[in-house]
Parts: sequence; C-alpha cells; structure tokens
Amino acid sequence: MTADSVSVKDVLSNLSTNTDTFTETFTATFTDKKIANPSRLDCQLLLGFCLNRGRAWLIAHDDYILSDTEYATFTGHMSALRDGKPLQYIVGHQEFWSLDFQVNESTLIPRPETELLVDIALQLLGDCKPIIIDLGTGAGPIAVALSKERPEATIIATDFSFKALRCAKTNAARLTEQQPEFVQSNWLSCIAANCADLVISNPPYIDPSDPHLQQLGYEPTTALVADCAGLADLQEIIQSSYKVLKPNGAIIVEHGYDQQDAVVELFKRFQFEDIRAFSDLSHQPRAVSARKSVQ
Ligand SMILES: C[S@@+](CC[C@H](N)C(=O)[O-])C[C@H]1O[C@@H](n2cnc3c(N)ncnc32)[C@H](O)[C@@H]1O
Repeated sequence: MTADSVSVKDVLSNLSTNTDTFTETFTATFTDKKIANPSRLDCQLLLGFCLNRGRAWLIAHDDYILSDTEYATFTGHMSALRDGKPLQYIVGHQEFWSLDFQVNESTLIPRPETELLVDIALQLLGDCKPIIIDLGTGAGPIAVALSKERPEATIIATDFSFKALRCAKTNAARLTEQQPEFVQSNWLSCIAANCADLVISNPPYIDPSDPHLQQLGYEPTTALVADCAGLADLQEIIQSSYKVLKPNGAIIVEHGYDQQDAVVELFKRFQFEDIRAFSDLSHQPRAVSARKSVQ
C-alpha cells in the first residue's frame, strides 16, 4: 500500500471487528515480524493522533486520503505499536482521575487501578490541613489528583528519578493550582520525623523473575521491579514511614495481586494498627492501609 491509495476508511475497515486485532490484509503491509497485536481502539487512537483528529472526526471524514507524511508517520508508529511499545508512550499522555497526564519513557504509565489509592486517601484524611507524602510519584498522578481534591493539603511528592520528577512537575503545573513540592529522594530519606498525616505510595513491586515483565519492556525497570519477591521497597517504605508519620497518621500502599497477606504481615511487624485490605475494581487484592498508633 502507498499513501496514494490509503483513506481513513481503508485503515478503519481493515481493523477487525471480530477479533479486535488488525486483519491479515492490513498487517500484510508490514513485512517485519512483530510480537504484539494492537487493539482496534489503540489503532484508531493512533490514526487520530497522526492526523491530529479525534475518533468522531475519523468516522465523519472516512474518505480523507492520508498525505505521504501522515501515512509514513502512521505506519512508523504502527510498527512501534506492534513491537509492543505502549500507545501512551507514542501519543505522550494517559488519563488518570479524569486528568490528562503527560508521560514519557522515564515514567510509569499511570494505571486505572491506582485510582483506588486516591479513593482510600480521601476516605482516610480528616478535616485538618493534611501533610501528604507521595513516595515514588512518577508522572505525578497520585500527588496531582490529591492536590485537585484537597487543595488545602501540603503535598510533598518524591522520586529518585530526576526525569520522572521533571515530568510530574510539568503535569502539576498544567493540571492543578496548588503545586505539590517535588523532592528528589531515596524513599523517605529526606523527610523529617513526625511530620506527615498521610504517606501514600505505589512502589515497584514486581518480582524480578515474573514472566509478565517481558510485556512491560518499555517502562522503566526501576519503576516496576523490587527484590525479595517484589516486597523489598514495600518493606522499606512501611518500616521507615512509622518514623515520619504523626501519631494516628495513615499510610496506604499499592501491591501486587498475590502480595496482600505479606503486606499485612509487614504492617503488623512494624507495629501499625487499624490495618485494612482493599481490592480494585477487577476484584484483585490491590492496596493496604494502616495507621500509626495514637501515642
Ligand atoms: C510503580 S512507579 C509509580 C509511579 C506513580 N506513583 C504511579 O502510580 O503511576 C514507582 C516509582 O517509584 C520510583 N522509585 C523507585 N525506587 C525508588 C526509590 N528508592 N526512591 C524513590 N523513588 C523510587 C520510580 O522511579 C517510579 O517513579
């Protein structure tokens, strides 16, 4: 296929309606062997991105013929998508908490299940002007969502990746009036004792030997993987949070679907109280909250 012959309709009609993947006729234009089968929706969004148009426009203007440049851009990105590159890294953004976050290959792509942490935080925070520490902020989704919901809060968002912090800062500047403070830190090493009402974190928690890691090859390993079967960073955060929390201060952590019992045990081991376990919308165990004792 050349650009002369490719309309929006050609592209859209070659997206399989049955299998949700590109059909043979269209994939045959890509000669190299690829591993991923992009979804129909991802292909539509990619075409819209290349034409700088929304999905509604694509449907209303399906006789539009792609220019050479548009076609070359689309096929190039399509090839990357079929190599397994996430659409979010191609288009450069991802929605979280109904906010449009910029992402890049230095940041984890925010996941919908992490919205659970924001939900729990809003339930646990009292009426005070809380001091909140978001550990491992990445592109900043948790910190920015909480700053939108609780503008009176003081939010400190940390990460050890300078590039991730730069991305988070840009997102905060675009998306919220009350700017979190962004601090480069190895977990809680820069945070004073007894200062926080809430510590919240979605840390790396994937076991280095987990076969699913292969599918996540484009995201930073340092955002995904932790030693000790994925529990090393969770343990460090839980242990060191006890010192930085005020009495009765709360902590919420995200974890892997099979780590909830181990995380509950860590909270018990480090003297936390009021330990509660949560599942995400897919009914997968996903988060645990706890409180430091009142005295
Ligand atoms: C799973 S990602 C979460 C990103 C973001 N909070 C989210 O939910 O999309 C974990 C983040 O922790 C950061 N991180 C990993 N090890 C760290 C450490 N020792 N100290 C501080 N941040 C760390 C990574 O750079 C990454 O941004």
